[in-house]
Amino acid sequence: MCGIVGYIGNKKASPILINGLLRLEYRGYDSAGIATIEENEISVMKNQGRVNSLYELEGINDLKGTIGIAHTRWATHGKPSKENSHPHQDNSNSFAVVHNGIIENYNELREFLTEKGYNFLSNTDTEVIPNLIHYYFNKDENNDENRILRAVKSACSDLIGSYAIEILSKYNKNNMIVVRKDSPLVIGKGNGENYISSDIPAILSYTKDFYLLDDNEIVKLSRNKVMFYDENLKEIQKPVKSIEWGASSAEKGEYADFMLKEIYEQPKAIRETIGAKLDNGIIEIQGLSLDREYIKSLNKIYIIACGTAMHAGLVAKTIFEKLCKIPVEVDIASEFRYRNPLIDENTLSIYITQSGETADTIAALKLAKSKKSKTIAISNVIGSSITREADYSIYTHAGPEIAVASTKAYTSQVILLAILGMYFAQKLGKTDKEIISNLKKDILQLPNQIEEVLKSSDKVKQFAKKVYKEKDMFFLGRGVDYAVSMEGSLKLKEISYIHSESYAAGELKHGPIALIENNITVIITMTNSKLVEKSISNVQEVITRGAKVLAITSEEIKNNGFEEIIKIPKTNPLISPVLSVIPMQILAYYISKEKGLDVDKPRNLAKSVTVE
Ligand code: M6R
Repeated sequence: MCGIVGYIGNKKASPILINGLLRLEYRGYDSAGIATIEENEISVMKNQGRVNSLYELEGINDLKGTIGIAHTRWATHGKPSKENSHPHQDNSNSFAVVHNGIIENYNELREFLTEKGYNFLSNTDTEVIPNLIHYYFNKDENNDENRILRAVKSACSDLIGSYAIEILSKYNKNNMIVVRKDSPLVIGKGNGENYISSDIPAILSYTKDFYLLDDNEIVKLSRNKVMFYDENLKEIQKPVKSIEWGASSAEKGEYADFMLKEIYEQPKAIRETIGAKLDNGIIEIQGLSLDREYIKSLNKIYIIACGTAMHAGLVAKTIFEKLCKIPVEVDIASEFRYRNPLIDENTLSIYITQSGETADTIAALKLAKSKKSKTIAISNVIGSSITREADYSIYTHAGPEIAVASTKAYTSQVILLAILGMYFAQKLGKTDKEIISNLKKDILQLPNQIEEVLKSSDKVKQFAKKVYKEKDMFFLGRGVDYAVSMEGSLKLKEISYIHSESYAAGELKHGPIALIENNITVIITMTNSKLVEKSISNVQEVITRGAKVLAITSEEIKNNGFEEIIKIPKTNPLISPVLSVIPMQILAYYISKEKGLDVDKPRNLAKSVTVE
């Protein structure tokens, strides 16, 4: 949830570190700090607040060090404050550490270190790390060049939990050490310099060559060399991976916010995700090879994810069940992992995660693997943690998604899942060929149709101006329109702070209708001609009770009391969320803007949830 940056080279480190933190701010933004080595001493500067608050610190521009570590925090242990911000140091100020993750046994370690005479200045779990390193460093009588490395290794073997850690030591101003376990960290390879970051986009403007770290690997960086070690300090080799994303894909460009840019990038994201998969008669998905016998043997498919990704999974349930006639269960990763799910080797499990770093989703995958389920990860980030755990990894090609509120990742996930459903159906041979070929045609039209929907954004913006001061809203729908309503409701909550609920339209009268009062806003989605009349009846029940209703529909409907109707193009109802979600994303965006909120970095949230 926090963001980490590091630099070692010949340039002044502090501007590079702060620039990297600004790009990682979506991962956490309640405090920030940097540490560099200035004339053999570690200099730490930190502040509560956004990364820009570092510029308020006296002397920040005078830092000359060419090696440094940096951190932007999303508080877990210890409230946001200067004392709790990173970097943290040991009592002798010999080591400085930044950390992303959670040290679960920090209380025990704190007690142990207190007994050994160490003091603690913060309430964080992290502060045990520099002190443990110091403890092991002092115990080691062998004063060779790997003494710090050994101290880090010993400290890490005491840690329980998740961590990506950067370590700076005044005893060696030409090296930096980093280590990761269950938290993201990449190394960017430059010329005579090296970079470290929690994710690739933050340092894309410096390099396109990366080393991706696996769990428990320890790395010693110098200006010209990167050395990798396993957990027993045995040296290992790692390949460099060149990333195709352009630096501009992580910039806002002409847009006011990343979220708006990402909403408008959806036609491109869908085109790239479809790629060449539908070009031939046989659907092929790179990275996936499941044979017919295996798919026939399946008794169930589980789809596991969190938040928006889980909502994409709900759409996929309808698609898979319709095309493949295999029962599908969709579960929230944090629930699935603790409920002893019924899984065996005849259960396929699919994990959807934009970042590929969501702790609960990764843990759920590991659990299913231990029960012999085959696992497929769907991620937007090549080489992300989940893709290194799954049996098969397939990718959305949405490009970097920076705004905390997910938009283009959702629509790309829905499309990739639809193609996956068609892949299974084709292998099973149960579904009419015409159904598959019509669905293919409909999918191929979606990018142009999204462009059409984006043209109605002014109408949605005007509606946002009318309703932005409200306290509650409802999102209704039936079938996949209900699934997409959940996504619309989540979008509104997270960036506008308006309370909202989504309900299956037919369920309203079983309780929640009691909440409908004069002038309340209701958003109803209707994209299925077989269900539209039913939905219209349900919506009349709320119009009669004074609700202001915005209808998002591809159907020809009469205006029987709707406040506004947003017409979207007609497509196969199975994939209609890719179109119907767009007005909901735009509505949430403009409501947030009207309220003067930070659209890209909503309060209390972080983009990548790498803790449980
Ligand atoms: O990276 P992931 O797709 O695993 O993230 C899952 C959720 O944290 C994420 O979708 C979250 O709900 C978004 N902020 C929603 O906009």
